[in-house]
Amino acid sequence: MKEKVNHLKNEILEKVNNSKNLKEVNELKVTYLGKKGPVNELSSHLKELDNEEKKEFGKILNELKMEINKEIEEKIKYYEEIELKEKLAKEQIDVTLPGVKIPMGSPNILERIIEEIEEIFMSMGYDVVDGPEIESDRFNFELLNIPKGHPARDAQDTFYLKDEEILLRSQTSPVQARTMLKMGGDKPIRMICPGKTYRRDDDDATHSHQFMQIEGLLVDKNVSLSDLKGTFDVVCKKLFGESCETRFRPSYYQFTEPSVETDISCFVCKGKGCSLCKNTGWITVSGAGIVHPNVLKNCGYDPSNWTGFAFGFGAERLAMLKYGIEDIRTFYQTDLRSVKAFDRREKDND
Ligand code: DAH
Repeated sequence: MKEKVNHLKNEILEKVNNSKNLKEVNELKVTYLGKKGPVNELSSHLKELDNEEKKEFGKILNELKMEINKEIEEKIKYYEEIELKEKLAKEQIDVTLPGVKIPMGSPNILERIIEEIEEIFMSMGYDVVDGPEIESDRFNFELLNIPKGHPARDAQDTFYLKDEEILLRSQTSPVQARTMLKMGGDKPIRMICPGKTYRRDDDDATHSHQFMQIEGLLVDKNVSLSDLKGTFDVVCKKLFGESCETRFRPSYYQFTEPSVETDISCFVCKGKGCSLCKNTGWITVSGAGIVHPNVLKNCGYDPSNWTGFAFGFGAERLAMLKYGIEDIRTFYQTDLRSVKAFDRREKDND
């Protein structure tokens, strides 16, 4: 028996010594120390021996197991270290290799013009506020002096979500009402609100069922149309250059009285007449006016004490004018070629 054990021990140790890699040692471990291996097989003969022999032979077997296990584990560790070293050597960073170029993203053109307008208004003390895109009829229409059944509603073909009460806002003007109610009727207000609006328009080069507006509202004491004109003038000169001239034309909105359509001088033909300005020399950029007393009253401001002006720009329209974009759909089709083209144009302008 002892001889058998010695023989087995030498056989295993030799094989472990001659093994060439981690895989081979692991295989030896399974073969010799596994359940069905020869070491276990020898243990199964213990029960055939008498007590004395059992004791002696049991001890020998235990030592055998321990020794083999130790040899195998050391070998495993040895190969694992070698593998790790090889792996690390392979993974060495070559700092002289040229870097991988990561393509840079850039903000959407619409985003840029909105940020530009925000900067201009913030420099004049305006806050930038937000409002919900899912609105109630009350904020989108009623508080703005457009009662149910009024023909002014027809101009804004609205997406209703529930019982003609909940809708996708068709304009950013409801944020005027929200801001006034929030301010409590006794504090002056200067705010702009850029945001998405929705109308049931068929999409074409100049219409989109979803578009961006920038609403503005100023409420204070003794605000007049000339304050609106002065503000509008400053903003347009900053946006389109110092030579930009502005004018107001009478218009009609339910929530302002008087109401105006605001124009800028055509920056392509400088007023001489071209296809952009349809030979008029002027381009319309927003609606505006003096806040209607009913709107002030509806929103908690006493019209005998407070006055204000409001305006609404179409953000896409401004961006189309400023960047010479002919189709509103360019903003919403994620065609990287157009983004890159505007990036280049921006750089050329810098
Ligand atoms: N809400 C108007 C529209 O969507 C735009 C507008 C016009 C906003 C006049 C105003 C305003 O605040 O005073 O057509």
